[in-house]
Amino acid sequence: MSRTSCCRICNGTVTEFFDFGRQPLSDCFLVPGSAVEKEFFFRLAIGICAECSMVQLMREVPREHMFHEDYPYHSSGSVYMRTHFENLAKRLISTELTGDSPFAVEIGCNDGIMLQVLADAGIRHLGVEPSGGVADLAAAKGIRVRKSFFEDEVAADILEREGHADVIYAANTLCHIPYIGSVLSGVTKLLAPGGVFVFEDPYLADIVARTSFDQIYDEHFFLFSAQSVQFMARRHGLELVDVERLPVHGGEVRYTLAHRGAREPSPAVAELLAEEQRMSISDLVTLEGFGENVQKIFRDLTTLLLELKADGKRVVGYGATAKSSVVTNFCGIGPELVEFVSDITPSKQGRLTPGVHIPVRPHEEFSDAYPDYALLFAWNHAEEIMEKEQEFRAAGGKWIMYVPDVHVV
Ligand code: SAH
Ligand code: TYD
Ligand code: ZN
Repeated sequence: MSRTSCCRICNGTVTEFFDFGRQPLSDCFLVPGSAVEKEFFFRLAIGICAECSMVQLMREVPREHMFHEDYPYHSSGSVYMRTHFENLAKRLISTELTGDSPFAVEIGCNDGIMLQVLADAGIRHLGVEPSGGVADLAAAKGIRVRKSFFEDEVAADILEREGHADVIYAANTLCHIPYIGSVLSGVTKLLAPGGVFVFEDPYLADIVARTSFDQIYDEHFFLFSAQSVQFMARRHGLELVDVERLPVHGGEVRYTLAHRGAREPSPAVAELLAEEQRMSISDLVTLEGFGENVQKIFRDLTTLLLELKADGKRVVGYGATAKSSVVTNFCGIGPELVEFVSDITPSKQGRLTPGVHIPVRPHEEFSDAYPDYALLFAWNHAEEIMEKEQEFRAAGGKWIMYVPDVHVV
């Protein structure tokens, strides 16, 4: 049975290619003893628009359910990501924020990981962040934050109060926004005539090539490609003028948009578009093949964990990521297979993971008594984590990876 929905970009027909079934909110960590019957579930399924090729969820979760005072994701948890954003901020300072009193706006600044660099450099800036808890963390560092969802009216209000922005930036945020038309129409107003809108998000081609299916969850409404972003930009009088592939979070692309005609597109745009054509990433057949690879990972991981349990091995999860919610809930991986999940984020510790309710514990509980196996849910930070967990390996511990396939290292 084929299922369809209406495209959030162009009103075309979206055809489903994978159904993850009933899923909880991926960042909703429960307080033990709280009313589990109130836990929110929805059907997580994904499809592609036949008209504009935008890959998107079949159903939207109301934004207030996801982004609120208690939103637990803190961007500054990764040292590698801090360096990543510092490099980007420095580049913007030297290439774009060069005029008199330049102004930069960040959509989804979280705890201020990027804006901190602009603030320290004395650059006029504003973060727009709806999740109160993380917005307060940014404000406490001296960053200017407006606690709201970025959308058309908010952009108009910022324009009135502060004037045009030379740079509008968003990392791992634009793909979270189903009402993206309102965001882009706001960007079009707020962006200075010669300014740039730069955003970076998980890249469809990397997700398909690496079978990194766990990038698909409630918050990640869109999976962008150069093709779909170019189409979307043009509908709003913007042009895709640069693309850059990034190694972070398992593979992302940084897109640069400018007002149409304001800048000459770099050759990288045409090159990436051509590569996407060669890889057929927007073909339903390719995406259905991706779905088959996902099913294999689910089968292999469940089999491995059941075997390890039968052998009496201790398995602990590493990183209570939003991504892990999909794999644990689809495979039914609960505390009987994974004892607890180690995580350095204070707001997740002492809570239970969404849906399957595995306890989240501070890192000390991992290092005080190493398990036989660590299931690396934060696989996108593998390099950073492996580097600091050499003692675990030395003690005989092994890592279980499930992207691009299930293997033990
Ligand atoms: N930029 C950070 C945070 C990414 S998490 C990083 O890359 O690490 C996504 C963030 O987007 C969350 O903090 C969430 O509260 C915020 N967000 C969600 N919808 C938004 C909207 N409409 N406008 C601005 N921020 C939004
Ligand atoms: P991340 O993969 O960045 O994002 P998402 O939640 O969107 O899937 O989340 C990484 C999680 O792993 C976060 O909760 C912090 C945790 N973490 C550790 O516990 N130790 C570490 O060394 C790192 C880098 C992350
Ligand atoms: Zn469409």
